[in-house]
Amino acid sequence: MKTLIVYYSRSGNTRGATNLISSDLDCDVEELIDTKSRSGPLGFIRAGRDATGRKLTTLEAIKNDPGEYDLVVIGTPVWGGNMTPAVRTYITENSDKFKKVAFFSTAGSSDSTKIFNEMEEIIKQAPIATLSIIGKEVKSGEYKTKIEEFTNEIKD
Ligand SMILES: Cc1cc2nc3c(=O)[nH]c(=O)nc-3n(C[C@H](O)[C@H](O)[C@H](O)COP(=O)(O)O)c2cc1C
Repeated sequence: MKTLIVYYSRSGNTRGATNLISSDLDCDVEELIDTKSRSGPLGFIRAGRDATGRKLTTLEAIKNDPGEYDLVVIGTPVWGGNMTPAVRTYITENSDKFKKVAFFSTAGSSDSTKIFNEMEEIIKQAPIATLSIIGKEVKSGEYKTKIEEFTNEIKD
């Protein structure tokens, strides 16, 4: 199955999860780059506000056409209980191109059910697998087992 992982990461957690997922799958990887600055205290405040306001943003040009993949695995950090504007923009702009999708998220503590439901609504298709990782699972090491379960579900 030709697979692409697409993710956004502000501070590296979702990138770290992506690296583990991609080391277990034979796949291409694409990082979404938000042209709006999300760094520093002001960037942090704007990030939360834009995410909760369900705002779109402008992404740097993507390198891989999602329509050329059998499966696109999409990863987002949780911001203010929502997906990031970068991921919202990506799935909105490419909603008709996905053959199959899987979703993952990283968060301090929030549950991602609502986010995955909204991603499903935008893409108009249910994911074949989902994974949410929270801070305490990173501390305990439990996230590694969860990532393994996620990639096994994808490979099945
Ligand atoms: C603007 C902003 C809002 C956030 N809101 C939440 C939240 O609502 N719930 C939560 O559990 N974590 C929240 N977090 C924490 C991030 O989801 C968490 O640190 C995530 O792993 C960051 O991913 P990244 O390192 O790939 O950017 C927030 C972080 C930022 C920067």
